[in-house]
Amino acid sequence: MSLLNYRALAAAVSRYGCLAVLAGTLAACESTIDPDPSSSSSSSSSSSSSTSSSSSSSSSSSSSSSSSTSSTSSSSSSSSSSSSGVPQGDNLAVNGDAESGIANWAGRGAVAQRTEDEKYAGTASVAVTGRTASWQGATYSLRLTPGNSYDVSVWVKLAEDAPTATVKITGKLVDDADDTTYNEYTEIASGTVTSSEWTQLSGTYVPAGQFEAFIFETPDEFETVSFYLDNLEIYGEVEPVEPGPDPELGDGLAKAAEFPIGVAVALDNSRNANLLTNTDVQAIVLNNFSQLSAENNMKMSYYNETTFANVEAEQMISWASQNNIGVHGHALVWHPDYQLPSWARTPDENFRERFEAHVRGVARKHRGQLESWDVVNEALSDGGEPYRNSVFYSQYEGIDYIINAFRWAREEDPEVDLYYNDYNTEANGPKTEALVTLITELLNNDVPINGVGFQMHVLPDWPSLADIRASWAAILELDPNLKIKITELDVRTNNAYSDPPLVNESCESSCLEQQKQRYKSIIAAYLEDVPPARRGGITVWGVADNHSWYSNYEENGLQLVDWPLLWNSSLQTKPAYDGFLEALQEGL
Ligand code: XIL
Repeated sequence: MSLLNYRALAAAVSRYGCLAVLAGTLAACESTIDPDPSSSSSSSSSSSSSTSSSSSSSSSSSSSSSSSTSSTSSSSSSSSSSSSGVPQGDNLAVNGDAESGIANWAGRGAVAQRTEDEKYAGTASVAVTGRTASWQGATYSLRLTPGNSYDVSVWVKLAEDAPTATVKITGKLVDDADDTTYNEYTEIASGTVTSSEWTQLSGTYVPAGQFEAFIFETPDEFETVSFYLDNLEIYGEVEPVEPGPDPELGDGLAKAAEFPIGVAVALDNSRNANLLTNTDVQAIVLNNFSQLSAENNMKMSYYNETTFANVEAEQMISWASQNNIGVHGHALVWHPDYQLPSWARTPDENFRERFEAHVRGVARKHRGQLESWDVVNEALSDGGEPYRNSVFYSQYEGIDYIINAFRWAREEDPEVDLYYNDYNTEANGPKTEALVTLITELLNNDVPINGVGFQMHVLPDWPSLADIRASWAAILELDPNLKIKITELDVRTNNAYSDPPLVNESCESSCLEQQKQRYKSIIAAYLEDVPPARRGGITVWGVADNHSWYSNYEENGLQLVDWPLLWNSSLQTKPAYDGFLEALQEGL
């Protein structure tokens, strides 16, 4: 909903140069903008704030129109936000009032939900609950222009019977490279809030760099009160921008399947693909997928080593649940050094204790939130040895770490499906044999395993379809309850290993057509070979080609570019998308 509003907003901004969005309707704003003179000269670290409270009854609908009238009319007055407490200029907030949904909102380590139990105006507000630390709260994401001045206002009320608390609005920029400082955070406003009446917090903010989100939290240590937010309004000068083409959403992959159709999503801004802030990515996900995997942010190093806090993962899970999308956890245990916690990079005598604490702590944290977990990822070696000599393998002197991880995960989360996940195991070669040996060993030891994940980062012609099918069959035969999940599907167009290597400078008609047939044949084979009750789902490893870890990569000594996914870099669906969809539709 807000996505469409956002496109409409961008289009209108480009047409009119300025705009007001009030109560969910779009209207061209008056041609003279009256920016707050004090705020336009303020820097990102300076902010002004004020608070006021409303005695209006939260449930009466007349309060809604009077409060919104009051902000509208004050916004055309010439006094500054700092002195009047009411923001100035064009209202950029879309859905800040939670009336038609809360897609721009997300929980920050807490739960943010639309509720009709309380409202400052209209029929709904955002309830922020389940907080266990003062930094936890809610966020609101949208695009702001660095250097422009924005007036921010929100109405806040504490949960019934809560003691008085201070609530704070912070502007957050995208993380910089320096993780020893907190220059990304700027306080915009804070004030005392009660449970008996709605209080307005407002202030001015000038983002000094790429903006990420507004944060609503309580600054006092150990403060964990639940609160309501309503009528968030953000006013400011908008630079006319040409919106790009609308993303092509397609006809909906997940609708054509009775098992999870997943996608890996970024939760940082590295390839301009951040699900939490990129509304085009959100629109595509909402229209096509029924499950999310975090491409990186649920790996071991992303969790706080003692509290297991993980803000981005929590935001993703909360967004997914608000939108009725499942989550596949990736991955409780994975070896690469650069995504390991510090205790695993330099192991000492506490290694096993820390390992157990991580597996249990993370599984417990997400108990009931996930459909499935990759419990152990990539424990098999690529060479002759069956097992990878990872830090886990060497510290446990064998595969007890795998057995234990599955048992601990099951103890902490009784319902979630537990998978072993690996790559190149679909090639029906020695690694597939090693996989069969490992899974047999786990089954013989009554290890609680529900399925096997095949990553399937495949080449145009390798592995052959026959080998892929034989590899799945070898697992299907082991136990009638084991599921098969394609966990990280992407289809490269290059083959760095062929002789001579197949290296593409671009991928046009015939290349795109071949890729389509490859996708289609893999999906069709899955539907033919894996019985419905044993389908764990199919996940693609990213949305658009320019988001892919294979968009630019080195393989077999060659520096390559590739286009392995279902949407191109302009977010238009590719023939590969049609092939995926056709196979699903033909299989129904
Ligand atoms: C990759 C991500 O796509 C990259 O962004 C990151 O730099 C490295 O990890 N197998 C897995 C995934 O299980 O976690 C990997 O994801 C790809 C290979």
